[in-house]
Amino acid sequence: MCGIIGYVGTSIRSQFLIQGLRRLEYRGYDSAGLAVHQSDRFYLKRKIGRVIELEKVVDDVPLQTGIAHTRWATHGGVTEENAHPHLSFDQRVILVHNGIIENSKQFQTKLKESGIELQSETDSETLSHMIANLYSGKGPFGEDIDLETKGNPLESIRQCLRLARGTWGLAIMFVDRPNELFVARNGSPLVIGVGDQARYVSSDPHAILPFTKQVIFLDDGDIAHVVQDDVQLSRLDGGTTNKLIETLEEEWGDGEKGDFPHFMIKEIFDQPEAIRQCLRGRMVHDEGMAKLGGLDMEPKDFLSLSSVTLLGCGTSFHASSVGALAIERLARIPARAEIASEFRHRNPVIDSDSMFFAVSQSGETADTLGAIREIQIKGGTTMGIVNVVGSSIARSCGRGVYIHSGPEMAVASTKAFSNMISAMYLFTLQAARVRTISSAQGQHFCSEFQEMPEKVDRYLQKPGILDPIVEVLAKAKIIFFLGRGFSAPVAAEGALKLMEVAYIPCVAYPSGEMKHGPIALLEKGTPVIIIAPNDPLKHKTISSLHECKARGAIIILIHTQGDPIASEGDYSIAVPECSELFSPLLTVLPLQLLSYKVGLALGRDIDRPRNLAKSVTVE
Ligand code: AGP
Repeated sequence: MCGIIGYVGTSIRSQFLIQGLRRLEYRGYDSAGLAVHQSDRFYLKRKIGRVIELEKVVDDVPLQTGIAHTRWATHGGVTEENAHPHLSFDQRVILVHNGIIENSKQFQTKLKESGIELQSETDSETLSHMIANLYSGKGPFGEDIDLETKGNPLESIRQCLRLARGTWGLAIMFVDRPNELFVARNGSPLVIGVGDQARYVSSDPHAILPFTKQVIFLDDGDIAHVVQDDVQLSRLDGGTTNKLIETLEEEWGDGEKGDFPHFMIKEIFDQPEAIRQCLRGRMVHDEGMAKLGGLDMEPKDFLSLSSVTLLGCGTSFHASSVGALAIERLARIPARAEIASEFRHRNPVIDSDSMFFAVSQSGETADTLGAIREIQIKGGTTMGIVNVVGSSIARSCGRGVYIHSGPEMAVASTKAFSNMISAMYLFTLQAARVRTISSAQGQHFCSEFQEMPEKVDRYLQKPGILDPIVEVLAKAKIIFFLGRGFSAPVAAEGALKLMEVAYIPCVAYPSGEMKHGPIALLEKGTPVIIIAPNDPLKHKTISSLHECKARGAIIILIHTQGDPIASEGDYSIAVPECSELFSPLLTVLPLQLLSYKVGLALGRDIDRPRNLAKSVTVE
């Protein structure tokens, strides 16, 4: 979603802001813009479309203080006027904003009544005018009252934001303060990078990682005054706050495509190594045990657990569904996965012996953050299962497990799915070893787990003949995905992936549900992808396969290598053998590859599908 980059420091060139925006591109956006402070004015450029379009119109100007933004439209269409930065009516204040100002309609009305002509349809623009009014000593809507905000940027920002309802990550410049940046956070992440005679600001630590690893994470309600060699923090209510400078952990993997044409395919092929990174140092084979230090849990804590709830959205919800099955199956703890965006709105019952995991690749998903907040309000224990180190979810949970997938840049999540499952399986092993399984059973689990990266690699090296299937899928009006047990969430994940990347309507069901309604949609030639690894439910899934076949469906069957059921499919894809529990790590692979290839065949924007964003920071 929207991204912010800001700079204050020794003189460099405007191109720096473009570079910063490039590192935010993966998040999804539809317009971009930047502003550079120039003695008595701001150099301002905005453009709809990609950063490259902006780059074409930006001159090579010196940069000492500047802000830039990628916008994902919420209030108002995709137009140049709605793109950020937004300049105040008196040209003295300019800002970029992530988040949503819920009461901006009132602000717009009052600003118009005061004679200000709004230039955009956005909620964000209102803040620039209000701050400018306050900075000139007037009321926020131009009222003639003498306020002590006159010439005081921090107090002007505070007074403005105290009136606002909603979320913000803000970076603001004042024309008469050439070497100063002001930032504020509430519900939308912001991080300040500490460099040598330079400070960087971003909504995403990834964007400033090439320049510095020393960072200050802002919390909700924080405001900061940033100059090239200092950061002064304070609170929206006027209080003070201190924060440590943290060192960003060195990430495994890189955020570059290398020799791959797209991030998505690179990340699919990252999976063997990504799973290895997740397991590294976390299993004690001799004891048949896992150790997740970030959970900080003693064996007795596992014994007293009454239930586990895993909360996530999209792919993270699907991975959670797999994790819940494993936890309940092996550790015998009642476990369920819940869609985070639904959870918080149903006044959930929170039991003090339950454990709640917030599962998220980006660690910034607003719906998941909202669920955490609700649990915390009700006194529950939340832990994160997160990829992005230092992200809002990781920080608000305090404890948890990093999945260590390395940066995932494609909007369609692939390696994070595998690593979320891997992290949840480590938790499963740790809990099960305390509660239910013997050392020998634990050792068996460890051995099989350790073999998985090689099996994932083996499949990716020989994925089977996919092109004829791609041809069938690319022509389809609708595609079904069916699976049972551990394969039901994999079916859902396959459908999500293909919809995202190829824009084809896809329907996923636990296969037993097909006959209860969805089968009415089947026509001769409808592709049905059936996930039936060699598990105890396979024969039931095959009954569903026959029901679809009898109605003329084209069956694409994903099965275990060497299984004679291969002949049941019009097209069959074999994955290496493994136990039922680990099968999602393999059966998801052909689905990821097919989505990628169908998207490619249809000429889709693979890494940045339309209307989507990498981290969904609005509810
Ligand atoms: C996955 O391909 C999607 N882009 C999306 O469903 C994603 O998984 C969801 O928005 C949750 O994101 P998170 O893991 O960053 O919280």
